[in-house]
Amino acid sequence: MTGSKSRPNPWTLAGTSILLLVFSFKGWAKNDGLALTPPMGWNSWNAFKMDIDESKIKAIAEAMVRSGMRDAGYVYLVLDDGWMAKERDGAGNLAGDPVKFPGGMKALGEYIHGKGLKYGLYECRGYLTCQKLPGSLGQEARDMSTFASWGVDYIKLDSCFAERNGRPSRVELAVYRDAIERTGRPMVLSLSDFGNGSWAWGAGESVHLWRTSYDISRSIASVYACAETSGGDGVIHPAFNGLWQFAGPGRWNDADMLQVGNLPGPKEDKVHFSLWSVLASPLMAGNDLRSMAEPVRSILTAPEVIAVNQDPRGFQGYRILRDGGREIYNKPLADGTTAVLMLNKGETPSDLTVTWDRIGLRGPQNVRDLWERKDLGVFEGSFTAASLGRHEHRFIKVGTPGGTPVPGPAPVPLEKYSVTRSGTTYLGDLFYIMKQGDAPRTDANSAGGVLSLRGTKYPKGLGCRNSSRIMYRLDGKADRFQAVVGMDDSYAGEETVRFRVLNGDFFGNQVLFDSGKLTRESAAVKIDIDVKGVDYLLLMIDGRRVAADWAEAQVVAGGRPDH
Ligand code: GAL
Repeated sequence: MTGSKSRPNPWTLAGTSILLLVFSFKGWAKNDGLALTPPMGWNSWNAFKMDIDESKIKAIAEAMVRSGMRDAGYVYLVLDDGWMAKERDGAGNLAGDPVKFPGGMKALGEYIHGKGLKYGLYECRGYLTCQKLPGSLGQEARDMSTFASWGVDYIKLDSCFAERNGRPSRVELAVYRDAIERTGRPMVLSLSDFGNGSWAWGAGESVHLWRTSYDISRSIASVYACAETSGGDGVIHPAFNGLWQFAGPGRWNDADMLQVGNLPGPKEDKVHFSLWSVLASPLMAGNDLRSMAEPVRSILTAPEVIAVNQDPRGFQGYRILRDGGREIYNKPLADGTTAVLMLNKGETPSDLTVTWDRIGLRGPQNVRDLWERKDLGVFEGSFTAASLGRHEHRFIKVGTPGGTPVPGPAPVPLEKYSVTRSGTTYLGDLFYIMKQGDAPRTDANSAGGVLSLRGTKYPKGLGCRNSSRIMYRLDGKADRFQAVVGMDDSYAGEETVRFRVLNGDFFGNQVLFDSGKLTRESAAVKIDIDVKGVDYLLLMIDGRRVAADWAEAQVVAGGRPDH
């Protein structure tokens, strides 16, 4: 807080939130002026997987221009995995696949630039790409300068095999950032790491966007699951209400590339596009633009829906209602209006109502339909979208341009998700900042019963189911991590379980503790390890259909337990 005594009005509230954000992410944003709004373009993976070649890519470039996609903002044409030769050339440099790209990658870049587009290429920070082509490990500086010499403007950096690299992701990404800086060529760096907690551990120091999910596929269920990683509790504690507080100009949560045009029909395509718009997710089209049907084209180029995504304020939308399948999201915009998405994922047709008090407005407000591009009139206090059927939605803009900016919600304060005091902090009393797999239960086993290991009951701890990864933020404040782990006594099966504790993220692979495989008969294992200097602690469980406990999971700071 500023300590100022000024009367709180919406704008100071918004200003305070923004200040808090700037403060908590000091040093994180790259501040290089790139990706100030979510990047827009086309990427080859969702349409073609490995099946790309020079003539296809050139035809895509032409289609981007002809269809109006480029002029609607889709400027990056990105070749995903599959463009490379199987081996580096005699000098150790990356080269394009000589059969698929006989003209070479530099010439292709020139062709793309000649169309008024920007050029993007995929690489991987592992020793191989996900499709087993040459990765950049150990060759980072060389590869970044190769890319610069080819005129590359955007790099999608994948993470397959990176857990073998032996360095924390934060350190590794800084290597790429510095190598790119040294080339002198501005290049957007887009991290693909399948929701590895980048929002939380500072990838934004080095990259402009990071994935929040596993790969999207061609189904509305997958679209919803990916949206949930950015806008819901798919990958973070529910208290955060999505990842909005970690995004902003130059640092974006990427819910993955678009499947618009690859879904069953316009209803699904539109929902998908509206969700990505409200969540300020990058808009990387993934359909075959050469044969794009007009309805798909008009969805992808819908100007007012794109404008919400590209709003210069860069505030990621957040959810204000979740009631069964009924959801409402709000994205405050730079011009004082706010975009509201009302969606029915459920089976039963339903009315959805947004009241102005939930979106920081009051009194009569203009409402505009962003898909229809039509003013709907002035509404007092609320707006109702009547009888929305399954997967139907309404995307509206509320307010009058030029008004006072609508404040966003306050971010979760650091003390709720970081160690801030001496003595004992039970991890279950902190909000985890990343999860993969099922969320842990706090102070109960995974079925809600008492945590119990070999007959001993524990009032505190985390009850987990199946494989999971949970990350907590320690900010170097803790000295020891302690827990008792094992298969919960409620488990009657024959599977094994393995507990690991890591300093930092999964790909960093700095293992501090490894239980090896345990069965339900194994004795409970006591953990008491040094975590001095650890900023992020990752608790990992490997196990299929198991119930496993981190009983008494706690960190001790200042060496004086006070419980
Ligand atoms: C995956 C990545 C996809 C695609 C693919 C290429 O790891 O998430 O988006 O790039 O690799 O092999």
